[in-house]
Order: sequence, then structure tokens, then C-alpha cells
Amino acid sequence: MSSVLSGNLGRVLCIITGASRGFGRTVAREMSVLVKPGSVLVLTARSGNELRTLQTELTESEAGMAGLRVETVVADMAQMEGLQNVVRTSEEAFGEGIDHLMLINNAASLGDVSRCVTSFTNMAEVDSYLSLNVSSSLCLTARVLQAFPQRPGLRRTVVNVTSLCALQPFRSWVLYCTGKAAREMMFKVLAEEEPDIRVLNYSPGPLDTAMQVEARTNTADPSIRKSFVDMFDQGQLLTCEASCAKLMKLLLEDNYTSGAHIDVYDV
Ligand SMILES: NC(=O)c1ccc[n+]([C@@H]2O[C@H](COP(=O)([O-])OP(=O)(O)OC[C@H]3O[C@@H](n4cnc5c(N)ncnc54)[C@H](OP(=O)(O)O)[C@@H]3O)[C@@H](O)[C@H]2O)c1
Repeated sequence: MSSVLSGNLGRVLCIITGASRGFGRTVAREMSVLVKPGSVLVLTARSGNELRTLQTELTESEAGMAGLRVETVVADMAQMEGLQNVVRTSEEAFGEGIDHLMLINNAASLGDVSRCVTSFTNMAEVDSYLSLNVSSSLCLTARVLQAFPQRPGLRRTVVNVTSLCALQPFRSWVLYCTGKAAREMMFKVLAEEEPDIRVLNYSPGPLDTAMQVEARTNTADPSIRKSFVDMFDQGQLLTCEASCAKLMKLLLEDNYTSGAHIDVYDV
């Protein structure tokens, strides 16, 4: 992909949450080869060692040698301070010639899938889940868009990594389904309000990541758990690379309807 399409996303400042592993790390790698020299990636997560390893890898890559800059922010996205640090680093990194602002809202957690709806009596527990998976994503997006307002010559793209669970209920997955549905609607509202911003709700499909291990290990509902175990056993999980290639295709072609939910299997 890199040799043909290199630079097609422009000179980008791209913020990627949850970049320490899984899909976010793959997005960072793929993004690095599709942006022009002089672009900046701002990678954030709580795991500093993993972020710094990725930073070294990308800085020493062909893209890094050609002038890609990689910043890391070790931050808990459930904390206001974490959001502030991401925005401050991004503002400091925004240099002359950046013509495309991208925010990839990827960080998320599965929540406790070992219980069903009637066990969630503790509001603090539910609030804590929604704080990371819904509130932080709204507030980070708002802060980033305020920090980089509309101006001539600047494209702005916001991606929400969503899920089939935003559309369909799964037994014993109440936190995750609720969070994904709320988060996706938030980005649909953004698309309605801000026609100049390109907004994409990308559903990456079942990925072979730590989140899937949690899903097949902890899901309370036996038939849902079995469906995850079967997908793994039958080799039906997607690699992060395969799904990310579809996301990059969408971003490069740039002809999706802003705010739309687009599933990996529809690309
Ligand atoms: N895996 C799937 O089958 C699947 C299917 C559909 C949609 N998705 C979505 O795809 C996205 C990526 O999932 P994945 O499978 O790559 O998950 P993953 O392997 O569990 O990675 C989650 C990422 O989010 C970060 N994160 C979690 N809590 C955080 C916090 N409090 N503050 C900051 N960062 C935090 C993690 O980094 P640290 O732990 O270092 O903070 C990690 O980088 C998620 O939005 C997920 O809902 C996944």
C-alpha cells in the first residue's frame, strides 16, 4: 500500500487513542505510510512502554526517516487531565504546512461482560464505564475541534471506532452495547452540526486482539460466549491489518456519507 498511496492523506496531524496495542497500534503503523513528510502522529494510551516502542519503530521507519514526527502521551482517557495533555501535545506539535487534522477515537474497554443487566445496581460502576467509553470521547473530540477550528486549507476528519454492538443487543454485554450506541449517536450529531467535518463511524469487525480474549473468556451468556469461541476456533477473526486496510481505503477515497456507520464487511 505504502509505495502507491504514500502521502495521499496529506500533511496530517493525526491523534490516535488506544495506540498501545490492538487495532490502534495497527492504525498508527498504517497511517505512518499514508501521510506526507512533515506529518505528526500523536499516540496515546496508558501503557508508556508500548507507546515508546511504537514511537521508536515508526521514527526509525522509512516514513520516520522522511520526516514523520511521532509524539506519545501516556494518559488515562477517563481523566480530564489525560484529555488536556493530549490536546496540549497536539497544539505544540501542529506545525507549518499541516493541512489535515485527524482524530481517531479508538480507545475503549469491554466492561464487565460476566454479568447481566439486572446486576448493574451501582451507579458509580456504570458511570465509570461510560466516562471512558462515551464522555471522554465526546470531550476529547470537542477539545480537539476547539483547538483546531475551521480555517481555509485545513481538512478535518474524525473517526469513531464503533461496533456491531452499537446497532445490535448482545446478552451480558450491556455496558459495551450501551456505550457503543451512545458514542456512535454522538458522532452522528456531530456530522449533522458540522458539515465541514468528515465524520466516520467505522465498525472494524471481530479482531484478533486482547478484547476478543476477554470476550471469549468472560462472557456470561453461554451462546454468545460460544459464538466468540467458535469464531476463534474456525479462524474467522480478522487481523487488525486486514480491517485497518479497509479503514484506510475509506479515508483515502473519502466518499462515505459523513456520520455513516460503515462495517468492514461492506467495504
Ligand atoms: N476486538 C474486536 O473484536 C472489536 C470489534 C469491534 C470493535 N472493536 C473496537 O475497536 C477498538 C480497538 O479495540 P481492540 O480490540 O484493539 O482493543 P484492545 O486490544 O483492548 O485495546 C484497547 C486500547 O484502548 C486503550 N485504553 C483502554 N482503556 C484506556 C484508558 N482508560 N485510557 C487510555 N487508553 C485506554 C488501551 O491502552 P492501555 O491499556 O495502554 O491504556 C489499548 O491501546 C475499540 O474501540 C473496540 O471497541 C473491537
